[in-house]
Amino acid sequence: MSDDPTRRLAPVVRIAPAKLNLTLAVGNRRRDGFHELHSVMVRLALADVLTLALAPGDVDTLHVDGHDAGAVAENLVLRSLAATRTAVGAGWTGSGSSGGGPTGPTAGAAPALAARLDKRVPVAAGLGGGSSDAAAALDAALEAWGAELDAHVRLDIAARLGSDVPFFLAGPAALVEGRGERVRPLPSISGPAAGVLLVTPAVALSTEAVFASFDVGARGADPAATRASSTHLAAELESGMTSARLVERAGVLASANDLLAAAATIEPGLRPFRRGLTRVLRRPIGQSGSGPTLWALYPSLEDAQEAHGMVEEALDDGSLSGPGDTRPVVVATTIETEGDG
Ligand code: C5P
Repeated sequence: MSDDPTRRLAPVVRIAPAKLNLTLAVGNRRRDGFHELHSVMVRLALADVLTLALAPGDVDTLHVDGHDAGAVAENLVLRSLAATRTAVGAGWTGSGSSGGGPTGPTAGAAPALAARLDKRVPVAAGLGGGSSDAAAALDAALEAWGAELDAHVRLDIAARLGSDVPFFLAGPAALVEGRGERVRPLPSISGPAAGVLLVTPAVALSTEAVFASFDVGARGADPAATRASSTHLAAELESGMTSARLVERAGVLASANDLLAAAATIEPGLRPFRRGLTRVLRRPIGQSGSGPTLWALYPSLEDAQEAHGMVEEALDDGSLSGPGDTRPVVVATTIETEGDG
């Protein structure tokens, strides 16, 4: 534990990036209710920003700007802070912002934190925003408290917070297995950063409901093909892959998501919307995670930005319309490469 009070007086700022599932193979439901996954995931430049500062009083607080993230009390940031404090334990001995003894929620516990979250990643969209915030909160809290936890303890906290959280403790690209807790970092994609266009229709899709629909038979024609594509992509990344090669692979990757049919069963408007996007962009359109965010890959950010303009234009003139009451959120971003994050 560090005893440098000046360091901890300054707020701790963390970038909490979104993720994209380039592949998502889903196995059978396990006895614990979760499904075995095989997914190649990458971090995106699109990110929330989390700021933590030591605070007086007994209670962690959270203020959210940007996208509506739902009830603050249920936000994963607060759950992450609580779980991390428990793991740090009653043995916290840092000096706190007051420079005095421990001032935390209970005597001897790590002190309360005030969190601010600038929510730029669309919520409940298949982009892992909430999970990334939770991983960032874990890391930032340790720094704010001047505390340390072993990597396996951090992984354990992350896995209990949610299936996507462990990925965010790993590198910019990883193969994710188990229910999400087995994360093998992969070499990141080389070359100029690939552009990504994200289109998130304004429909709330519950991950749990999408998996439940998968369980009752909303599945693609050939699950073995998804698994093969996922295994192949992981091997390609392992041996070094350029962004140009990844973009060439987009056609295969766009169908390598076993939750496509399940998401479209719950929200039937997704199928025609994906067809409409294919028509406008003339590129393979994939889905991230359990959706509803759809993606297209480009050689550069500039190309993705141009595609952004095409989608906005089609939404304006009515030749494309999304399911949901409000306009889809359209974002051009890039896949993170080593050194970005
Ligand atoms: O772990 P997380 O809270 O993100 O999971 C949300 C829901 O998604 C779970 O309750 C479960 O129904 C489903 N899920 C699953 N298998 C996984 C991950 C999530 O069935 N590997």
